[in-house]
Amino acid sequence: MNKVVYVSRSGNTKKVAGAVAKGASAKAVSVEEANLSKPVNILFVGGSIYAGKIDGKLRDFLSALRKDQVKIVAVFGTAASKKSALPEVKAILEPKGILVSDDAFQCKGKFMMVGSGHPNVEDLKQAEAFAKRICEDNSHE
Ligand SMILES: Cc1cc2nc3c(=O)[nH]c(=O)nc-3n(C[C@H](O)[C@H](O)[C@H](O)COP(=O)(O)O)c2cc1C
Repeated sequence: MNKVVYVSRSGNTKKVAGAVAKGASAKAVSVEEANLSKPVNILFVGGSIYAGKIDGKLRDFLSALRKDQVKIVAVFGTAASKKSALPEVKAILEPKGILVSDDAFQCKGKFMMVGSGHPNVEDLKQAEAFAKRICEDNSHE
């Protein structure tokens, strides 16, 4: 089973989470609703950048994640800049032995005057393709 968990303050990452869920044939849930009572094969984690960092709720969720709950984590997100959540997610999970894919998806997310219209249709298409690719790459498990 695959899962998509995200944090989204203004809806940009939520839109991308929907596309990722479509590509992965999985369900997208916000981090508040996330329930990992059953082990997950691929956990897609969506997070954006706020003042240079990921959201505190996402940080708490990742800090509580255990190696036996997930085979691999794949990261996606939006931001006004090109900054991805990937390095911060890796810094939290890798010391616990949790595998984090280097293949991550990032697109612009509207923020004030920046990134107007994003994520757009093309971004969402690419996000769906990213999720399909990750699933194919990990289908031998
Ligand atoms: C309080 C705040 C701080 C932000 N700081 C950054 C930042 O440091 N770097 C950046 O690239 N984008 C920054 N952004 C832009 C968001 O990352 C961007 O709008 C993102 O798409 C928001 O995703 P969400 O709608 O899923 O919350 C910030 C946005 C907010 C609201």
